[in-house]
Amino acid sequence: MNCALLGYGTVGSSVKKLADRQPGLDIRIVFVKPEFVDLPFFSNEGEAIVTDPDTEIVFECLAGVEPANTLIRKALEHGKHVISSNKAVLSANLPDYIELARKHGGSIQIEASVGGGIPLIDGILKLDRAEELKGFEGILNGTSNYILTSMEKFGTSFDDALKAAQAAGYAEADPANDIEGRDVWYKTLLVASLYTHSPVLTLPEPLGISKLSAEDIDIAKAHGKKIRHLSILKNESGSFSTLIAPVFLNENDYLASVDENFNAQKIYADSFGSLGYYGPGAGGDPTAQAMIADAINLLDGCRRPITLDRNAVYDPNLIQENWIVRTDRDLSSLPGVNTEFFDADNLYLFENRTPALIEEVRVADPQAMIAVWR
Ligand code: HSE
Repeated sequence: MNCALLGYGTVGSSVKKLADRQPGLDIRIVFVKPEFVDLPFFSNEGEAIVTDPDTEIVFECLAGVEPANTLIRKALEHGKHVISSNKAVLSANLPDYIELARKHGGSIQIEASVGGGIPLIDGILKLDRAEELKGFEGILNGTSNYILTSMEKFGTSFDDALKAAQAAGYAEADPANDIEGRDVWYKTLLVASLYTHSPVLTLPEPLGISKLSAEDIDIAKAHGKKIRHLSILKNESGSFSTLIAPVFLNENDYLASVDENFNAQKIYADSFGSLGYYGPGAGGDPTAQAMIADAINLLDGCRRPITLDRNAVYDPNLIQENWIVRTDRDLSSLPGVNTEFFDADNLYLFENRTPALIEEVRVADPQAMIAVWR
């Protein structure tokens, strides 16, 4: 099939390399911004490329919303198959893209946008055909996981670990998206859309890892725990809830064993209880491999359709957790507080609270470290 590639950064250049080895996929032209047009197969004529009658597949690996959104829409309006790794643009527009694909005969494929090289989206779409999936927990940001495990194993400072993740090509162009949880927010929104078959376009704000310090790593170790940044989803008969936050996990928890830039996820359903995925969630080649796998599905004539024809209701009460809060303010009047559990004046345990606790703590101290305690 004749293919066009949009973007030639970490993921785009890997897509070109892997596609060139793949019989049946022929990337003829690559869209890049004007300042980068320095190879014979580069062009900055994005619209002409994606509407060219010879183009059948468009691989979209641009960062951010524009020009990605305009080019994806043009491609879908011209009946192309669009394979995207761009969670920012997909999370804001997936329902529109699905409708455009349906109307004009193309498709939108999103495997690489969540979990990098892990076939998580395929798994969700496949399993969900048989029964309602009840829950999800996962590590979805390789950069955050890399930082947490570097701090935990080697005592690396937060800033040095972030620099190393950037050098390795895991981090977003703006790493604030990684450490403040925005990248996971995009991915969780896509997972929630698939789980609920609903056009989910917003979720509560995430808690990232930026407030965690060496002190928190020591607290975790002292209690036999490891900190991981998790996306949590509960889905029950037309209602759903999500939470994105650091979680102090028992050391023997499956997700606590996931190190470096790796991602892992657990899917919950009545028939199988839980099952897990594990693999590289960031980096050029793993993410590109997921995009090539989507293209091979097209070559094989095998696609898993995404349907968003329901309207699930967000119910914040579906999630209840215990929480650890580190702050210099006095939180002893907040509901659910246990002031005896930690032997330190600046640490609080809150028991069986919904994520509404986050806002209550932030009103008292916007800089507080807030995490789930399991
Ligand atoms: N910055 C992302 C991460 C890349 O660290 O997981 C993959 O989406």
